[in-house]
Amino acid sequence: MLRRLHEEQPRSFSFTSENKAWAEAQIKKYPVGREASAIIPILWRAQEQEGWLTRPAIEHVADLLGMAYMRALEVATFYFMFHLQPVGKVAHIQVCGTLSCMLCGAEELITVCKEKISPNPHQLSADGNFSWEEVECLGACSNAPMAQIGKDYFEDLSEETLCQIIDKLCTEKPPTPGPQNGRFASEPKQGLTSLMKYESGRTKFNGSVQMAYDLNDTIKRIDGTETELVTPWLKAGKKKTMQSVMRKPKILKSPKKSVPDDLSGLSGLGEKAKIILNRLGIFYIVQVSQWGAAEINWVHSHSSGSLSLNKLKSFVEQAKNIQN
Ligand code: FES
Repeated sequence: MLRRLHEEQPRSFSFTSENKAWAEAQIKKYPVGREASAIIPILWRAQEQEGWLTRPAIEHVADLLGMAYMRALEVATFYFMFHLQPVGKVAHIQVCGTLSCMLCGAEELITVCKEKISPNPHQLSADGNFSWEEVECLGACSNAPMAQIGKDYFEDLSEETLCQIIDKLCTEKPPTPGPQNGRFASEPKQGLTSLMKYESGRTKFNGSVQMAYDLNDTIKRIDGTETELVTPWLKAGKKKTMQSVMRKPKILKSPKKSVPDDLSGLSGLGEKAKIILNRLGIFYIVQVSQWGAAEINWVHSHSSGSLSLNKLKSFVEQAKNIQN
């Protein structure tokens, strides 16, 4: 499944002071030189803060851990637990669409999502509360079909139970995770046939569900107040979206035959930067001279971060001076 960074990105990311202290404590768990091992929990905390994982957040975490941006991007794009797009502020529902779940009714669950949330995956519901996507096997095949919502697995689902869960998610009392057909865990539906002694003394819910309840850590709602976010559910004017801070500049399919590419006239613009700009359709100083902040953000974003904002700003200043 293709996983890409969202086309609209906020300008920056920073942890709240509480999350920053938490991230620093995670890093201390690992020996000097192995700080990168803390990447998954810290990316997760960044996602919990903002609801989804933005490019500035991934780069911020990479900087924190002394990693190349690409290494952090590899982790973020590999795991489905990281949302690379804005998600519903109440819940993002990840329906497993792999073999066992498909055989047991995942298609019907996807139909529920299409009807109750939005026709397309990664599209927010009209009220901004929900989004959904199909994901690969989540390792709960014996409880198929299932879906992950936040940190929790909802298993042994049917169309009816998924509808109820979605309705309940908006209420004060979140739905109970785990099997939804009366099973405790993944034992036969009729009850245990062996290891019977483990029936006695068990807690109300199975291990992971019980822990979620004991920690009071199930569904987390996004409030999106910490940094500038792409938060379509907020009222217009309350937050800027990236549409207002990122704009595609004028680009060309290829350089004009009669006029050679002149980007090398800009100081600090090496061969590598030139290749990146050419690939984006930028061949001339006059093109660069027309960029404002929104175009600079677009180029920065589309250069996979290789061209820093400061460097791009310096190119624009030089280009403007040359044009004047
Ligand atoms: S096939 Fe759905 S959890 Fe494995």
